Amino acid sequence: MDKQQLALIVPAAGTGERLGEEVPKPYLKLAGKTILEHTLSRFQEISGLGEVIVSTSDPYIQQTKTLLEKLFPEQVTHVVKGGKERQNSIRNALEKISGKTGLIAVHDAVRPFVEPDDIETCITEASRWGGAVLAIPSRDTIKIAGKNNEITRTPDRKSLWQAQTPQVFWAALLREAYDYAEKYNFLGSDDSSLVEKVGGKIVLVEGTERNFKITYPFDLEVAGYLLKQEKK
Ligand code: C5P
Repeated sequence: MDKQQLALIVPAAGTGERLGEEVPKPYLKLAGKTILEHTLSRFQEISGLGEVIVSTSDPYIQQTKTLLEKLFPEQVTHVVKGGKERQNSIRNALEKISGKTGLIAVHDAVRPFVEPDDIETCITEASRWGGAVLAIPSRDTIKIAGKNNEITRTPDRKSLWQAQTPQVFWAALLREAYDYAEKYNFLGSDDSSLVEKVGGKIVLVEGTERNFKITYPFDLEVAGYLLKQEKK
């Protein structure tokens, strides 16, 4: 079977509220480059990549266009405006993807340490099953809380995983999931949860903790440290 063409969507339109910074997270600089540039560069050698679309906020559109032209001279690239929620930002990006694309990978702009080998494994698994999500087994015991933080349940840790990105899907399946979510006003915190709603088969691919999402100030410190180590 010929390898299907892949499109990459990177949502980068978050505000960085939890980080307490003026500049949105993907545009903070670490080791001389923006976090978005570190993240996108992990996809430069990925096989079959034909299109790259980044969703961002107005003030960062031009800067992002220039970055995409530099990193992906062989690919078709687009920058679109982000939406209120991550899901809306991805929805806007989906509109730009051409009919030639067979697979779509979604990856957070703020996960700069994803391993290209893990991306390739997700692509292979997704083309086989319909969807693949990079994830790690939950290290902590997870509690379900009710009112006033009262614990109501403790699910068995053995079956709990923390979903990361990339999340890769057949293009038609991801489009169907986004149409369904729009129609029924469903808001999910990742793409897989939307595809699950339409009955897509999705497998977990075990990744590593290095692919953490830069969310809090502590994560930024860790990311700075890791990038310095990589430079040595
Ligand atoms: O807020 P969260 O950590 O879930 O953000 C994950 C990714 O989604 C980040 O790269 C962020 O820039 C992006 N995002 C977006 N549009 C939003 C909210 C988040 O593109 N409205």
